[in-house]
Amino acid sequence: MRIVLVGPPGAGKGTQAAYLAKNLAIPHISTGDLFRANISQGTPLGVEAKSYMDAGNLVPDSVTIGMAEDRMEQADAADGFLLDGFPRNLGQAEALDAYLERKGLTLDAVLDLEVPEDEVVKRIAGRRICRKDSSHVFHVEYNKPAAEGVCDACGGELYQREDDREETVRKRLEVYHSETEPIIDYYKAQDLVVTIPALGKVAEVTQRAMHALGRGE
Ligand code: AP5
Repeated sequence: MRIVLVGPPGAGKGTQAAYLAKNLAIPHISTGDLFRANISQGTPLGVEAKSYMDAGNLVPDSVTIGMAEDRMEQADAADGFLLDGFPRNLGQAEALDAYLERKGLTLDAVLDLEVPEDEVVKRIAGRRICRKDSSHVFHVEYNKPAAEGVCDACGGELYQREDDREETVRKRLEVYHSETEPIIDYYKAQDLVVTIPALGKVAEVTQRAMHALGRGE
């Protein structure tokens, strides 16, 4: 399956992607995680991306589209993938369609995680991520690690993302509404969008998403 996950910052895309990718046996491709890995390795791409991310802006398409395509070219993505955080504007959605068309492939679904804005703010405020692997995500109240400040998955140190500060979150939400939301209508026109109510326990949201994909129990 080839799936796109969309939703505001803090909606739970990364959290859900980890479970869905495992259940569907496809790789979880997060452009945010790819940028954070580049930042922690100090690559030129990471250095360029950091200034945009810290300000809550989108990293330019000239950098992002190539990076996402390179990742989709890797062997583990040959039979499908779950895209989290890409595409994030109309230019990226058109580039993804062009890429899939060149390969003779199509998307199966676009899952739109719907969460009220006050909940998103609470989720982001309490989020802690792992320094070793930013796809390991916790919450100080809703999804506590077994030992405070330590990643359950790999023992890495948990910390608060730079771009989870209040002013930056406000900017990211603004960018989501102006640049990312329009892709929902773009995909509605292709009859691909399924809205998933994303309030409730993590496992309940996963179940709703699996059901929407025709893979529920
Ligand atoms: P990115 O890393 O993609 O961030 P985002 O889209 O803003 O999404 P988040 O990671 O903030 O939230 P999420 O929806 O994954 O929620 P999570 O599962 O962590 O992008 C960061 C930046 O990179 C962008 O601002 C941009 O600069 C750049 N970038 C990335 N992709 C780009 C692109 N394509 N083009 C240009 N620039 C790009 O959950 C949040 C919290 O809630 C966690 O603590 C979690 O434990 C908790 N939680 C999850 N589910 C539940 C639940 N059901 N109940 C209670 N708590 C829950």
